[in-house]
Amino acid sequence: MKFRKEIIIILLVLVSLYSCNKSDDRLAVSSNNSDNKNALIESKVEDLLSKMTLEEKIGQMNQYNGFWDLTGPAPSEGAGAKKYEHLRKGYVGSMLNVRGVEDVMAVQKIAVEETRLGIPLIIGFDVIHGYETLSPIPLAESASWDLEAIKKSAEVAAEEAAAAGINWTFAPMVDISRDARWGRVMEGAGEDPFLGSRIAEARIKGFQGEDLSDPKTIAACAKHFAGYGFAEAGRDYNTVDVGTSTLYNTILPPFEASTRIGVRTFMNSFNELNGIPATGNKFLQRDILKDKWNFDGFVVSDWGSITEMIAHGHAKDGKQAAEMAANAGSDMDMESYLYVEELAGLVKEGKVDEKLITDAARRILRVKFELGLFDDPYKYCDLDREKATLGKQEFHDAVLDVAQKSIVLLKNENNLLPLKKGNQKIAVIGALANDKTSPLGSWRIAAEDETAVSVLEGLKQYNGNEIVYAKGADVSTGETVFAKELTINTKDKSGFAEAKSIAKTADVVIMVLGEHGFQTGEARSRTEIDLPGVQQELLEEVYSVNKNIVLVLNNGRPLALPWADEHVPAIVEAWQLGTQSGNAIAKVLYGDYNPSGKLPMSFPRNVGQVPIYYNYKSTGRPNEPAPGEVFWSHYTDQSNTPLYPFGHGLSYSKFEYSDLSVQANNVEKTVTVSFNLKNDSKLKGKEVAQLYIQDLFASVTRPVRELKGFELVELEPGEEKRIEFALTEEELGFYDNEGNYTMEPGEFKVYVGGSSITVLEDKFDLQWEISQ
Ligand code: BGC
Repeated sequence: MKFRKEIIIILLVLVSLYSCNKSDDRLAVSSNNSDNKNALIESKVEDLLSKMTLEEKIGQMNQYNGFWDLTGPAPSEGAGAKKYEHLRKGYVGSMLNVRGVEDVMAVQKIAVEETRLGIPLIIGFDVIHGYETLSPIPLAESASWDLEAIKKSAEVAAEEAAAAGINWTFAPMVDISRDARWGRVMEGAGEDPFLGSRIAEARIKGFQGEDLSDPKTIAACAKHFAGYGFAEAGRDYNTVDVGTSTLYNTILPPFEASTRIGVRTFMNSFNELNGIPATGNKFLQRDILKDKWNFDGFVVSDWGSITEMIAHGHAKDGKQAAEMAANAGSDMDMESYLYVEELAGLVKEGKVDEKLITDAARRILRVKFELGLFDDPYKYCDLDREKATLGKQEFHDAVLDVAQKSIVLLKNENNLLPLKKGNQKIAVIGALANDKTSPLGSWRIAAEDETAVSVLEGLKQYNGNEIVYAKGADVSTGETVFAKELTINTKDKSGFAEAKSIAKTADVVIMVLGEHGFQTGEARSRTEIDLPGVQQELLEEVYSVNKNIVLVLNNGRPLALPWADEHVPAIVEAWQLGTQSGNAIAKVLYGDYNPSGKLPMSFPRNVGQVPIYYNYKSTGRPNEPAPGEVFWSHYTDQSNTPLYPFGHGLSYSKFEYSDLSVQANNVEKTVTVSFNLKNDSKLKGKEVAQLYIQDLFASVTRPVRELKGFELVELEPGEEKRIEFALTEEELGFYDNEGNYTMEPGEFKVYVGGSSITVLEDKFDLQWEISQ
């Protein structure tokens, strides 16, 4: 079979070598059969490579940021002029941050019509949670545990971005993180590698679709390879020093899952990993990614990360940095300007093998062919399509759907929620309640400010209740946001009196508190993870006049809110939910959507507990106090448990788990876990049933619990269903410290329930060896 495929490839290469030249359209790929199509692409790539000079191949490895008023005159001096000159020579393979059909068309035209070989550019952009119509930030979406909704959200993002000229997104970020101080937790799927892997797959499928040449799809990029989410003390860009067990079992799995589902690109990372910057890390990029996982797409550097290897103290100058990055397997240079300047010389000196340059160019061209850019370089450049696509109603419907699913009900005492739909006086308090920009998050680069539906607007759509609003206090930011200084007086309590006066006479008070949209994201780490500014004081003051508070949180990371948990009867985690934020929140508050979200990250009691995560290891000491015991593993001033555990989330329905059965079939090599799930309430609702395992004794110790299955189950009032999971070697094994996947016979525990603090447990004895 393989042999036949090789013969076909050789024949196709010969045919195309014989016939192909630039002036006709034979570079186009238009076969339907995917094997033939791949073979045809390979032959076209080889043909093109055979015509390219060394400099042109290196050109493919060069990516520039947008650089001049693209539809105006080209610059005649400065950095812009240089980039322009390189573009015309065919020394640029990709551009980022050029968006909108007109601008993309302008650069693409130069690449296609003015360069010797007419190779189209691949156009990259950070389509992180939407292009113009925004979905919830990725951490929020992950709280839905709804893989279909997450995939749909990526589809919407892809279709909208593709209509605006983009064909490559720098997403998904698949970095696992356990540190709420790190500003970029908002961009990932949280703390768990199993959930993170499933979500990475859903996002990649959504962006790339079934066929990359479909004009509604774009290439995805798994980033940041690797370890970026483990920056020491949660400070962005900081050193990463992790052991092999954490690397193989926690950090790498979502990346490997991304390659298995066919992600076409990877981005490396700003951080060093165990002493070697990720960008110059051969072990990561060649040994693991390209050799072990057989990844045949390409790796782009992070912004300027090749140059940054000098600051890291790894490369002594730009030339050495280029040498290290190229040899390590970084295929494309994002904005370091070093490949284009240094690589040809390095090849001539014998410091970089030309084969590696050809390999990098091959990988990049392959993805361009797959996108269909050689069939039609302007396929993403249709002004009519752009106009008809951006902001389509169906996109708003889809992002509203995923937004409501992303909300997590943390607490709901005395059924304060859902709100009654008439004859209620509702006081709405907090600057974020009236904020149409913060819900867009910090990655909103193609969306206009003020385009989100605010909470106030969402609530006002429900007639029958009287709504009064007072800001109370601003949200602190205290930082420079890109070029804009946000001048917000964080100490100003002058609005407290008005807030208290409207709260006093209200039936219910809705307080919308949390973080400004720019308080999370890149370079936005925090050492305090409570409510910024005077919001905590505002909350306590309002509570002193009316205890009937629903606290709606808008934030991009887990917050530590022990006072609120102790006093406030209802708490709703509403993150930064994107364009439809206020509508989604109102639907949940009024019960038109019964909340179903579950936390993808543990919420600590205070920042001192961080990093805190559910899948920790046992120590040699007890984790729970025993009578008279002093020397157990604990703090003297705080409990070991989080405020809200991973997987936690309530519903207006009530779910009961019962009758757990665990059957190990040592002949068939599966373990079947089944249990009953009942909706013990009068409301239809959805529950994320979760399955955890614990490998009790292993050659490399295993966590106390590991998520290994989940299912989103919808149940009518009173309905009961039997839920079944099958565990195989895929779920029961782990990576040893050499990176080999292994599985060890012995005793395992199984836990089942609605959070990582599950209610049901059982054991089984695994008696088979892993298949080779
Ligand atoms: C970020 C990447 C992003 C790139 C391009 C970098 O600062 O780390 O995640 O894709 O910029 O905008």
